[in-house]
Amino acid sequence: MCTNELLHEKFVELDAFIDGLEEKEGSLITVLHKTQELFGYLPKEIQLHVARKLDIPAAKVNGVVTFYSYFTETPRGEFIINVCMGTACFVRGAEELLKEIQDKLKIKAGQTSTDGKFSIDALRCVGACGLAPVVMVNGKVYGRVKKEQLDDILATCVSENA
Ligand code: FES
Repeated sequence: MCTNELLHEKFVELDAFIDGLEEKEGSLITVLHKTQELFGYLPKEIQLHVARKLDIPAAKVNGVVTFYSYFTETPRGEFIINVCMGTACFVRGAEELLKEIQDKLKIKAGQTSTDGKFSIDALRCVGACGLAPVVMVNGKVYGRVKKEQLDDILATCVSENA
């Protein structure tokens, strides 16, 4: 299936999801979750589509997208590396871990590598303080992480998904 057909199918699925909602007003966040799940991110043209379907101003959609850090307007990598920067992790060296990961992948937190493989995010407490410092890759939790383990963690997540 070519990219355009794939994209078209995603729009069809999104429209069916929106049409199936009992009440559209007040469903913006639910719709944006579904949209990001389908497309991987929320660029302006897709936000506009959502605004038209829900019959609300595009600025309102953009306001929600930019307010919640979960939503993103740029494509995310295949592997999303979350470094917890909450207090417990911070005092146990999370800042150094983050710097090391940024140096290894040559991108900053909030960015995606040019090959589309990795994105890095710095998060607040992820609720696993006993395991501080914590790094998550696509939701998989790595605890008491040391700088020396980072190469292995990155290599493992890539090979497990190969
Ligand atoms: S501060 Fe990192 S898990 Fe709580």
